[in-house]
Amino acid sequence: MALFDVVIIGAGAAGLHCAAHAARNGLKAIVVDHAKQAGKKILISGGGRCNFTNMYASPENYLSSNPHFCKSALSRYTQWDFIGLVAEYQIPYDEKTLGQLFCDESAKDIVRMLLDECERYGAKVQLRTEVLDVDYEQDTYRINTSQGQLSASKLVVACGGLSMPKLGATPLGYQIAEQFGHSIVPVRAGLVPFTLHPPEKEAFAELAGVSMDVAANANDGHFSEAMLFTHRGLSGPAMLQVSSYWQPGEAITVDCLPGTDALEWLQENQAKQPKAQLNTVLQQLFAKRVVTQLGAYHQWPLTHRLANISKKTFQTIAEQLNQWQIKPNGTEGYRTAEVTLGGVNVDEVSSKTMQSKLQPGLFFIGEVLDVTGWLGGYNFQWAWSSAYACAEGL
Ligand code: FDA
Repeated sequence: MALFDVVIIGAGAAGLHCAAHAARNGLKAIVVDHAKQAGKKILISGGGRCNFTNMYASPENYLSSNPHFCKSALSRYTQWDFIGLVAEYQIPYDEKTLGQLFCDESAKDIVRMLLDECERYGAKVQLRTEVLDVDYEQDTYRINTSQGQLSASKLVVACGGLSMPKLGATPLGYQIAEQFGHSIVPVRAGLVPFTLHPPEKEAFAELAGVSMDVAANANDGHFSEAMLFTHRGLSGPAMLQVSSYWQPGEAITVDCLPGTDALEWLQENQAKQPKAQLNTVLQQLFAKRVVTQLGAYHQWPLTHRLANISKKTFQTIAEQLNQWQIKPNGTEGYRTAEVTLGGVNVDEVSSKTMQSKLQPGLFFIGEVLDVTGWLGGYNFQWAWSSAYACAEGL
């Protein structure tokens, strides 16, 4: 049996970063993963260029049943700490939009950097090693894997959430948490495209691939970003963001003209060009096929001259433009979700060290916890920050 100070399950963003820091602090650390490759999600993230953090990351960008939980870790290892590491490795990067930092070349640069950090400080990374089960006896964790048994006085669970099972996601982290008495805040897919009911799906099928700037709301989530029509429903950053706030059965509100009062705009145009058709004036705002499809769906009098359209009709159109209520059928689920909402209940975990309050020597970091960031580099920042807090507390 191989003996370590700490065994970390999951060679993803959080596990690799934690292993390097634990080893740097003098611990004999090993990180194990059933995948053939470390950091698979990092490699495909950000379209292969990894949005590795956000310049404006702060606790307000995270969802959790306890919104205070993430504060300590985020303040002790900030986006600037991680940016400093990226700079040390001379990885070229740039801000794309809204503070989102992406590699200029490839996400591989981030994985290579994390693996180099593990090597630099002597943390062992062992892949193709499935964790079968874990037990605890006489202050020691025994981790049974497909490659034999490991033992350590500290166990870090960094095996992520359920999104993208084809990349190796499993419920192991939740199972270990429950085994040691932890409760799990119900999990569901987040940052995920919406699917639509058949009438809307058909009505907007022609628009698949079309993107427009909107302001979207679901409960407390308000986001002004792009919305993308897809063959199944609605996606794009605005929809992914609100999906984390949406509950099944609810409607989302979409303002297709953010910053413009649609009623005023229509009435001004009616006064300026009364003979123009509604169709023509709306094309000043939207692409022709968007006007055609939205018009057909909402039954707008597109071929009528503005002079002949009543105030009541304008009010209805304006409401449909500024406050379009869409009831999604559901989401695409874990198959395409970027994250898993919910997870290990953070009230049972120390916000300073990520150590279980119920079980000595057991730690949880990254996405397995009930902390979920917005789209835009926030989830990786949580992985880095929680990993560092844990390594310092081991
Ligand atoms: P992560 O999922 O990275 O790692 C968990 C590891 O545990 C995996 O390597 C897995 O193989 C391993 N594991 C699971 N079960 C196991 C078992 N039974 N035995 C052994 N090993 C096991 N975020 C962001 O900030 N910016 C971005 O650009 C993106 N982009 C993005 C794109 C896509 C397509 C997805 C799916 C996700 C993103 N994200 C993102 C989210 C981000 O990838 C995610 O939040 C982090 O990877 C979470 O890091 P963790 O280390 O917690 O889990």
